[in-house]
Amino acid sequence: VRQRLINTSQSAYPLHIGAGSRDHLDGELQRLAPFAVAVLADQTVLGLHGQTLRRHIPATAVLLSIPPGEVNKNLSTAASLYDALAQAEFGRDGIILAFGGGMTGDLAGFVAATWHRGLPYIQLPTTLEAAVDACIGGKTGVNHASGKNLIGAFHQPAAVIVDLDFLATLPGRDLCAGLAECVKHGSTCDPALLSWLELHADAILARDVGVLEELIDCNCEIKAELIARDEREQGVRVVLNHGHTIGHALEQVLGYELRHGECVALGMVAENAVAERRGWLSRPEAARIRALLERFHLPTRAPGAVDPDLVTAACRADKKKRGGMVQAVLLRGLGSPQRTEVTDDEIRGALTL
Ligand SMILES: NC(=O)c1ccc[n+]([C@@H]2O[C@H](COP(=O)([O-])OP(=O)(O)OC[C@H]3O[C@@H](n4cnc5c(N)ncnc54)[C@H](O)[C@@H]3O)[C@@H](O)[C@H]2O)c1
Ligand SMILES: [Zn+2]
Repeated sequence: VRQRLINTSQSAYPLHIGAGSRDHLDGELQRLAPFAVAVLADQTVLGLHGQTLRRHIPATAVLLSIPPGEVNKNLSTAASLYDALAQAEFGRDGIILAFGGGMTGDLAGFVAATWHRGLPYIQLPTTLEAAVDACIGGKTGVNHASGKNLIGAFHQPAAVIVDLDFLATLPGRDLCAGLAECVKHGSTCDPALLSWLELHADAILARDVGVLEELIDCNCEIKAELIARDEREQGVRVVLNHGHTIGHALEQVLGYELRHGECVALGMVAENAVAERRGWLSRPEAARIRALLERFHLPTRAPGAVDPDLVTAACRADKKKRGGMVQAVLLRGLGSPQRTEVTDDEIRGALTL
């Protein structure tokens, strides 16, 4: 098991990565000494791994299940969780365990940030998406009808435990969705990671445990370094939004039918097309990223039925907008991200490739 400390302005929290790292949950609970424990998990994860988790939490823990799927990452699911916490008389002396993918982590983190003005929570990610990205950094939230993640709060977890045993049941589709964020980290921050991904693609897809552990550790290291410098996304952390301006818009326009990571793959290809047309990114560089995404079975062409006008409208609803202008993080070469304004015409042009 690998361990790191994630540093933020206010706090530092431990991150444990490895097969069997759930054994560290007991120690974390002892350290944090809550009077009550509530587990939030979606029905799928609870069905697959609920019994295993139960062996690592107090017998009195409250188990709260939520319906799976991004469409349920909303205020009405949060409201039902508040009701259940009230019913259980769950107060500020309790701790929430977010057990699942990024959807569960964002929602449980948001409930933890807001219930009784904030209680501690522990992230127990069970998808690659959550393990390489969502579980650290403290962005929590839910979607609003007008856009993705529009309601939320920054609230850092008290600990993060990535147990690879839980990832063993992950469908191939979800393994690949998480890899999109790894390609994002490589494209924006660490071109050496891109080479590493190309070299280890087969081992990753074959789920070699040692390789997955290294993959998760390396991606968390990249993200942790940005968080330590810019916890609230007022500066360097913004580069992690590469692919997410068009990606989030597509996710919403497609009614959350695709995985977040799949939309990020589409978003990166489209945003790279904008960068290429500006002369910021060379054709071979854009092609290299596209080929790597294809290697990971990710979509690189938006479904034909997508209406570009709906996508540009959704981009305008995004919280990254500034002064009415849509903002995106484009590459000026691999490893050189830059935030910039993008026009509706550029977005439309990139979607019709
Ligand atoms: N807060 C952040 O910084 C951050 C970063 C990246 C992504 N996100 C958010 O994360 C979400 C996407 O994450 P996701 O792809 O993990 O979504 P998800 O939580 O919806 O999980 C995807 C699917 O996998 C299933 N699943 C989870 N673990 C499983 C397991 N071990 N075995 C079998 N099935 C399993 C779930 O039931 C679900 O159907 C989006 O809401 C995105 O906005 C947040
Ligand atoms: Zn993302």
